[in-house]
Amino acid sequence: MSKYPTGPKGLPVLGNLSFLRGDRLKFVTENRDRYGDIVHFRLGTRHIYQLNNPEHIQFMLAKYPDKFHKSPALKRATKDIIGQGLLTSEDELHKRQRRLVQPAFHFKRISSYADVMVDYTRQMIADWQPAQQYDIAHEMMRLTMRIVAKTLFDTDVTAHADTLGSAISVGIEATAQRVMQPFGLADYLPTEANRRRREAARTLDEAITAIINERRAIQEDKGDLLSMLLMATDEETGDPMSDRQVHNEAMTLFIAGHETTANALSWTFYLLAQHPQVEQKLVAELQPYTTTPLTLPQLAQLPYLEMVIKESMRLYPPAWATTRIALEDFELGGYHIPKGSFLMTSMYAVHRDKRYWDEPDAFRPERFSPENEANIPKYAYFPFGGGPRVCVGNQFAMMEAQLILGTILQQYGLRLATNQPITPQPLVTLRPLYGLPMTLQPRTVPPA
Ligand code: HEM
Repeated sequence: MSKYPTGPKGLPVLGNLSFLRGDRLKFVTENRDRYGDIVHFRLGTRHIYQLNNPEHIQFMLAKYPDKFHKSPALKRATKDIIGQGLLTSEDELHKRQRRLVQPAFHFKRISSYADVMVDYTRQMIADWQPAQQYDIAHEMMRLTMRIVAKTLFDTDVTAHADTLGSAISVGIEATAQRVMQPFGLADYLPTEANRRRREAARTLDEAITAIINERRAIQEDKGDLLSMLLMATDEETGDPMSDRQVHNEAMTLFIAGHETTANALSWTFYLLAQHPQVEQKLVAELQPYTTTPLTLPQLAQLPYLEMVIKESMRLYPPAWATTRIALEDFELGGYHIPKGSFLMTSMYAVHRDKRYWDEPDAFRPERFSPENEANIPKYAYFPFGGGPRVCVGNQFAMMEAQLILGTILQQYGLRLATNQPITPQPLVTLRPLYGLPMTLQPRTVPPA
């Protein structure tokens, strides 16, 4: 058995550290094509294994999740923005917190959020001016932020949406920078970037603290996630969650709960603008429902809407990669992988692998028709991860994306307002690098 799988050699000492600064999507897809199922490379002294085979991904995420933890680089990078919440906690703490948070995402409960999702989208549309240009990435971020604040915390953040949005952008950029500087020292230098990061953390911290304090003051069970967090008690000791833990969980859900969905929507509008035949088919499907606000039960009658979103998340998975650290030695694909190794898998690379997808770069929602979807190998498509740490908000996100997309398309077609290519920026999430300028085209003539 050879010691390491093949992979890019990189430079002596530094290994492939330059990958973190370069075109990361190209790096992971080229690795997949050149080296196959398991790719080995080094970042400094760290050994990284990139998994490209769905069975191996299932091994890591779903079959043996206890052999792994989230990567320390992610934890360090997110420490002062979101702290230790559901996204980064481990073992017993993770299990307990997940048990507490999960009920807020049961379908029955999230179905009551549908009206807020549609109402807020209609409010946004009511403010839009026909034929004007908007940065749709910014509009989607603002909208999904307002929705998550209202549905999970019963709070209206409209007045602060832009300030919070900028703080989150700074936070995400800083987080990505730090994931990419695996050695931590740079965090403490008096640089402009560190100052901006601390300021962003403070802005977000103050906003979440204010929401929590306000709720504590009224001492009322509003039946939303925040009330559930505040009232939760430890099964064994009966103690409530500490203030810090409530804060971290709320912050995690606030950030994880809107950024990704906003990106999914932006990429969907981008793809629709380039594929008018898909848009036409979608608009035709929506046609019987255009006179009144969209409702949750109607989504069952709109299968193509769901297929379009799934296909968009295949090509542009909002979470483009995930990483773990091995807690013990194990065998995978004929290799011995020692404890302490880093494992990485990229949804972007696997979702575009020609071994599992015919013409992988083509936008074809039909791949997700019920007959076709059944033939997709497990873990060849995993935009929400998998196993016990699968995205807790996946149903929330799917429902929200469908309701927002359907509601906008009832009234507007969105056309790209630039000839420049829209480049994906793979930070923690996959955002359009310079936003997404689009022009609104009112839908006056119903499509044939
Ligand atoms: C299209 C939208 C979304 C995408 C693509 C997405 C993707 C993901 C992925 C891939 C993971 C697993 C990461 C890993 O295993 O390393 C995850 C976890 C998580 N997501 Fe999402 N997410 C979305 C929306 C949401 C929403 C709406 C919420 C909450 C309102 C949310 C909250 C979370 C939380 C708390 C976790 C951590 C779960 C745990 O470790 O137990 N996400 N998400």
